[in-house]
Amino acid sequence: MVEPETNRARAEPAPVVVAHALGSYPVLVAPGLLGQLEALVAEHLGASRVVLIADAAVYGLLQAGRLGRAPWTGSALTFPPGEASKTRERWAGLTDLLLAQGYGRDSGIVALGGGVAGDLAGFVAATYMRGIPCIQVPTSLLAMLDASVGGKTGVDTPEGKNLIGAFHPPVAVLADPRALATLPERDFRGGMAEAVKHGLIADAEYFGWMEREAKALLRRDEAALTHLVRRSVELKAEVVSGDEREGGRRAILNAGHTVAHALEQVSAYAIPHGEAVALGLVAECALAEALGVAPSGLGTRVAGLLGRLGLPVRLAAPLDERALVRAMAADKKNRGARVRFAFVRALGSMDPADGWTREAPEVAVRQALGTIAPTPTA
Ligand SMILES: NC(=O)c1ccc[n+]([C@@H]2O[C@H](COP(=O)([O-])OP(=O)(O)OC[C@H]3O[C@@H](n4cnc5c(N)ncnc54)[C@H](O)[C@@H]3O)[C@@H](O)[C@H]2O)c1
Ligand SMILES: [Zn+2]
Repeated sequence: MVEPETNRARAEPAPVVVAHALGSYPVLVAPGLLGQLEALVAEHLGASRVVLIADAAVYGLLQAGRLGRAPWTGSALTFPPGEASKTRERWAGLTDLLLAQGYGRDSGIVALGGGVAGDLAGFVAATYMRGIPCIQVPTSLLAMLDASVGGKTGVDTPEGKNLIGAFHPPVAVLADPRALATLPERDFRGGMAEAVKHGLIADAEYFGWMEREAKALLRRDEAALTHLVRRSVELKAEVVSGDEREGGRRAILNAGHTVAHALEQVSAYAIPHGEAVALGLVAECALAEALGVAPSGLGTRVAGLLGRLGLPVRLAAPLDERALVRAMAADKKNRGARVRFAFVRALGSMDPADGWTREAPEVAVRQALGTIAPTPTA
C-alpha cells in the first residue's frame, strides 16, 4: 500500500497527549530530541522572545555537546543545581532579570534540567506577566517520567516543600532519554522507583516488563529507557488528565508517598526522594496486605523488583518510629487526625475505597514500618 504523502517518512512515535482544564499538550519522548532543541522550541513555543532557564550543571553539559549535538544559541539564565535553588528568592531573582531585560507578555520560557528546574522555571512562567508559555525539557529520570507531566510548579519555603506554587501546564514536554547517560547513578535509580510505582498502581504488564528488563534498565539501554519513560508518562498522563487538581483519582499517585515523605522528613532529607519512595512502597504494600486490601505476597514481589533495580527495601539505619507516625499524621491527605493511605488492591490496580484513600490504625502502621527496619545484625 502506498503511504499517503502527509505521513512522514521517518517513523516518529506519536506524542503522548495530556489533557487539562484549558486544553492539552504533547509529551515527545524520543532519543536525540535535544539535538534539535532550538527547532522543536520554535515549533512548539510560538513566542517572539524565548529564554532558557536551566540548572547550571545541565546547561554546562548541553553547551559541551554532551546531551545532544547542538548547543543552545539563544538567551539563557541559569541557577545552581539542587533543591536549595527552589526558593522564592531564586524565583524573584529570575523574574527580576526577565523584567530588567524587557521580556514582555509575548515571551516564552524553556525549562531545562531535573525536577527543580521544571518546578522553578515553571513557576516563573506561571507568574510572569500573569503567565507566559513554557516548554518543559526534563533531563533527570524523575523529571521525565513524573515531574514534567501534570502542570504542577512551585517553590519550597522553610515550612516545607512545594507550599507555594501554581498549576501551569506546559505547552509541550520534550523528553530525550539519551540525556540520561550523564545522570548520576543515585538519581537514576531514584527515578526508577517512580516507574515501579506507576506499574504497581496502574499496569501489571508494565510491572512485569520491568521485572524482565531490570538489567537492561540498569545499564541504561536506550530502547529500554525510551519505553520506560514513555509508558510512565502515558500512565501519569491518564491519571492526571482525569483529575487535574487532585480531588479524586490523582490520589493514587501518592502510593508509597505517605511513608516516603515521613522518611524524608525524619531523616532530615538524608534519604533521597526515590529511595524513600522505594521504602514507602514496600511498607505501604505490607500495610495493605495486613489490612486485607492487597493479596499476600504483593509486598515481597514489589521489594524483589526494587532490589533488582538497585533500590533499598530496608533502611540503612533505624529511624524513630514515633516520629515517623507523627510525620504521617501531619500529611496533607489526611482528614482529621487519622492517617490515610492510597492502597494497592492488586498488582496494577488501586483500591477505590473512600476517595481512593483509606485510614489505617496506628498499630498496623507501626507493624508495617517493621518490614523496612534495618536488617538485624547477628
Ligand atoms: N511538579 C511535579 O509534579 C513534581 C513531581 C515530582 C517531583 N517534583 C520535584 O522535582 C524535584 C526533584 O527532581 P530531580 O530529582 O530531577 O532533582 P534535580 O532537578 O535537583 O536533579 C537532580 C540532579 O541531577 C542533575 N541532573 C539532571 N539532569 C542531568 C543529566 N541529564 N545529566 C547529569 N546530571 C543531571 C542535576 O544537576 C541535579 O544535581 C523536587 O524538587 C520535587 O519536589 C515535582
Ligand atoms: Zn515521588
